[in-house]
Amino acid sequence: MYENPRLLLDSSNPPEPGQIVWRSPSNLAIIKYWGKHGVQLPRNPSLSFTLSASCTDTALAYEFREDADNRIDLTFLFHGEENDAFKAKTLAYLESLLPQFPFLKQLKLKIQTGNSFPHSAGIASSASAMSALALCLCSLEDALFGTLPDPEGFDRKASWLARLGSGSACRSIFPHAAVWGVTSSVPGSSDEYAVPAGELMHPTFKDFHDDILIVSTREKSVSSRAGHALMEGNPYAEPRYIQAKTRLEQLLGALRRGDLEEFGKIAEDEALTLHALMMCSNPSYMLLEPGTVALIQKIRAWRADTKHPVYFSLDAGPNIHLLYPGDIVAEVRGWIEEDLKEHCVDGWFIQDWVGEGPEEM
Ligand code: DP6
Repeated sequence: MYENPRLLLDSSNPPEPGQIVWRSPSNLAIIKYWGKHGVQLPRNPSLSFTLSASCTDTALAYEFREDADNRIDLTFLFHGEENDAFKAKTLAYLESLLPQFPFLKQLKLKIQTGNSFPHSAGIASSASAMSALALCLCSLEDALFGTLPDPEGFDRKASWLARLGSGSACRSIFPHAAVWGVTSSVPGSSDEYAVPAGELMHPTFKDFHDDILIVSTREKSVSSRAGHALMEGNPYAEPRYIQAKTRLEQLLGALRRGDLEEFGKIAEDEALTLHALMMCSNPSYMLLEPGTVALIQKIRAWRADTKHPVYFSLDAGPNIHLLYPGDIVAEVRGWIEEDLKEHCVDGWFIQDWVGEGPEEM
């Protein structure tokens, strides 16, 4: 889509060395992306809230290479240390982008990256990491060639690039919320990149909280990539894709109206459907832990007792995302301290909330 063989530097007029830094957040899907085809294309549209506290900072330093060949020259540091596995993944990603960014092989690149949350938290970092890197690459293109002057075009290309790294990452580019995947309810929506959806929401959702209760920090037994692949043989796959499309339309209505009850019902149904699909895969697997189920039961009971609009969601893992509006933060935090923390590893939970999206530093 963005192939451009002309994006090459002129060695008689090399650029000055420079550095670009972006901070990009994670996101929580309310309607889940689960199942893909082709080159990272989703089987159904998804909608996510953009978070704030869970984020990745990435610095990309560059310098013109006199001795350019066909390799990418990359130094890679994660939290200040070399990390062979992450470096290999990043290199493979950058190599796959050479048709769009042929100039990458003309540069000596140094990437220094780190997350605001410990890697061991069992929280997916691919969305924040890949979106931060994609934003750095778009800033680099613009710094060297001046080809992305329009902010909308810049964000779209960053979202498109992030998707190629990790599907869910394409939604982290936008403030408050984003939709990825074609749906007739959102004009301009695409399978290739996400589009902003914050303007489609009632203000109550713009200061929504998402406290992440860390039930386990163990590495997942089945990766998201393998989980997506297992959808191909899942007997419920086709009805699931139809259901996701219908639920997205219902969710957009609830978000527009500020209908917390309908929002919560859809969010919880989606989380449980995601895990039900894993259990119905062949081979079957389960990422929920006893603590996850205990927390779900406590959340339902507390909601029934207090009438407070608190709801749960789940990613592809056992940790609970506790979703609630900003005006009940004091009550909810007191309840977490008193009753929920006992199910968290070392009483650990991350306070997060819907945020303004990535920022260039
Ligand atoms: C359950 O985006 O991590 O979090 O495209 O293979 O990198 P890849 O998968 P990934 O899958 C995310 C799945 C999910 C739901 C979601 O974020 O929509």
